[in-house]
Order: sequence, then structure tokens, then C-alpha cells
Amino acid sequence: MKTPWDYRFAQRTQRMSSSAIRELLKFTTLPDVISFAGGLPAPEVFPIEAFKHSCDRVLSNYGSQALQYSTTEGYLPLREFIAERSGFYDVKISPDNILITSGSQQALDLLGKILINPGDRILVESPTYLGAIQAWASYGAEYVTVPMDNHGMNTEHLEEALRCGPKLIYVLPNFQNPTGVTLALERREALIELADKYGVPIIEDDPYGQLRYKGVQLPSVLTLDDRLHCTDEAGYCGNVIYLSTFSKIMAPGIRLAWVIAPSVIIKKMVQAKQGADLHTSTFNQMVAYEVAKDGFLEEHIDTIREIYSERRNIMLAALDSYFPPNVDWTHPEGGLFLWGTLPDNLDAAEVLKSAVESKVAFVPGAPFFPLSGGHNTFRMNFSNASPGLIREGISRLGQVLKESMN
Ligand SMILES: Cc1ncc(COP(=O)(O)O)c(C=O)c1O
Repeated sequence: MKTPWDYRFAQRTQRMSSSAIRELLKFTTLPDVISFAGGLPAPEVFPIEAFKHSCDRVLSNYGSQALQYSTTEGYLPLREFIAERSGFYDVKISPDNILITSGSQQALDLLGKILINPGDRILVESPTYLGAIQAWASYGAEYVTVPMDNHGMNTEHLEEALRCGPKLIYVLPNFQNPTGVTLALERREALIELADKYGVPIIEDDPYGQLRYKGVQLPSVLTLDDRLHCTDEAGYCGNVIYLSTFSKIMAPGIRLAWVIAPSVIIKKMVQAKQGADLHTSTFNQMVAYEVAKDGFLEEHIDTIREIYSERRNIMLAALDSYFPPNVDWTHPEGGLFLWGTLPDNLDAAEVLKSAVESKVAFVPGAPFFPLSGGHNTFRMNFSNASPGLIREGISRLGQVLKESMN
């Protein structure tokens, strides 16, 4: 039933929706349901002790600064720390190339605010990250899609999509959410070259790049682009806007992420962020810096990789043991997710209903496709549940699938 408020909402809210899937997923949070649905880190890997000590140090040594308003760009030592760590990307970054945001989700929203006019087309992988589609809905984004395979966005179809005149390319090259797939090196190179040829900037969303469990690290799209464009005194000035986050390598509850981009983009994002929240929590930034510095973060990332790598292997082995042979899944080399494909006659959203009755859950894949498709696909998270629950959950799900196929 409509209320008077419904007639007062701005037009841009008309494209905001909470999906039917979200309603179904409410059941997945019940305590006895084994859920592979969320994108949650394992709570066991949160560095609680390090946070306790760092909170104490920050409050004892810089309490009045930590509890005060601060600059929109972000806490300078943290930005310098990120700039130094960007040796990881082999790109010369200055603090002017960095903006601290309240999660990468905020960065996506701010990018929508400064770059997307109603009707602008964004070129995306199909499927792609649902949170980006949600962030950009209210800015009136339209989509041009490029299909994916086991090597990421299929760049053979890229030029055709670029001819549709997209304003931006949005890509998740490492252990993509939702598929877990990694963009092959030759495709990264093709992407950079074609984006350059058509003059279309790239948003590289990379929350998982540091969580690799197998194979060799590939250069980021930012790195490859930097080799093509020159870096001047102001630091990076190429064609890529790079996003990463502390959510998966430290803790999502602190809502802390960073953008690396040409300073002209950072300046405009700063203006947009002033209107949104003035700045990201000073206290959280100072504490995160205190936790991360002096090598702790690198050690901690190694611990996370060990735990998630084991869980990934356990989930893959359980899938081999319990799933019917006509179901396919990806074998991610890192990240938090894998992606399944059911026989074409099955609808993953219907299977989820039976799965929830058997107290196990996953996310149906269709909402990750910005235009259409994917009714028989699904995403599974392997980082959050313990090894024992992963085996039990996959065994339950295997049973549900066998019954759905009869
Ligand atoms: C691809 C992608 N981008 C952005 C985000 C948002 O991350 P944050 O917690 O930093 O807002 C996520 C979170 O899962 C993600 O998977």
C-alpha cells in the first residue's frame, strides 16, 4: 500500500530497489542455516588484539586529533602508507593520487556522482558486482555488457561493445565478485590498448587482489596503464581509477578503502565526498594506520591467505564429492567466491528455496547480470564458514540439487 511519502520521493529513487533475492536471503541469516551467500570475511581472522592496542595508542597519544574533524582526502600518514605500498603495483603514486573513502562502496557511489549522467553507458563484465549496479542505479546508468569465460572478460567482444559509446569501463580483474575468475594478462593488455584507442577510462575494482592462493600475481590494470602513460611529478596521470579496500585484509566494519586516480579525479571526488560525509572517520583511519604499519598488515595478509586457501580447497574437494556431475563451477586462484552453473533447465532462485528448507544457502546469479541471463548460475562464498560447516553445507546442497534434478 502506498503512503503519502511514496509521492514525495525524488525521481532518482525510482530505480532503487531491494531485490526479491534480498528477501529470500533474509532466511539465510537464521542461526542454523549454513550460508555461503554473503561476502563475509571469516571473523576468526579479524585482528582484534592489534585493534585493541592500536585504539589505546591512538587515544593515549593523539586522542584530541583522532576525535576531531579532519581533511576530506584522508589521514596523510595512511595515504603515504598506501602510496608506499603501491610499490606492490609498481606505479609511482603520490598522496595526491589517493583518496580515503568509507568503503569502496562509497567510492563507487562518488564515481557515479561525478561521472554518470542519466543514460550514460557503462561497459561491464557480465556478470558483474551487484553493489556497483546498485550504486549507479540512482545516477541513471545504462549498461553495455561483455561476456566472461574462465579467463575473465572476453576481450574479443570488447571492441564491438566499445563501439556502443560507453563512458566508462568497470572491471574486476582479480578473483572477480561474483565469479572468482581472474582476467588473463593478454586480456589486461588488450583492455588497456582498446580503452586507450576509444578514449574510455577504466574503473578497476580490486578488493581481492592481495588474497591470491595459487598461481602468480598479475600486474594490475593500473600498472599496465602506467607503462603506457607517463607519470609526472604529480604522480599517476593515466586512464585508470583504481579501487581497493581494507575490508577483506583487515576488517569491513571499519569502512575504510582507498582510490588511486589522477589528481584531477581525486579533486572532484573530494568535492563530492564533502557533500556526502565530509570525511571518513578520523579515528578509524588513525587506528587502521597504527594496526597496519611496521609490517603487521603484510604478516596478517599471509595469515588470511593461509586460512582462505584451505577453505577454498575444502570447498572444491567437497563439490567434487557431493555435487551431481552436470553442475560446473569455477576454480578461483584467490578471493572469496566461486561461481556455479546448473543445467539450463534449473532456476537457481527456485533451488535456493529448497536449499533454505535444508538449512543451506547461496546467492542465485541472475541479479549479477545487468541486462539479463544467468538464471541457472549461483555464487558461493568460501571464506566465512569453518571447514566442517563447508563440508556439511556442500553435502546438504548436493542432496538438494540431486532432488531438484529428479
Ligand atoms: C567488487 C567489490 N567492490 C566493492 C566492494 C565494497 O567493499 P567495501 O567493504 O570496501 O565497501 C565489494 C564488497 O564485497 C566488492 O566485492
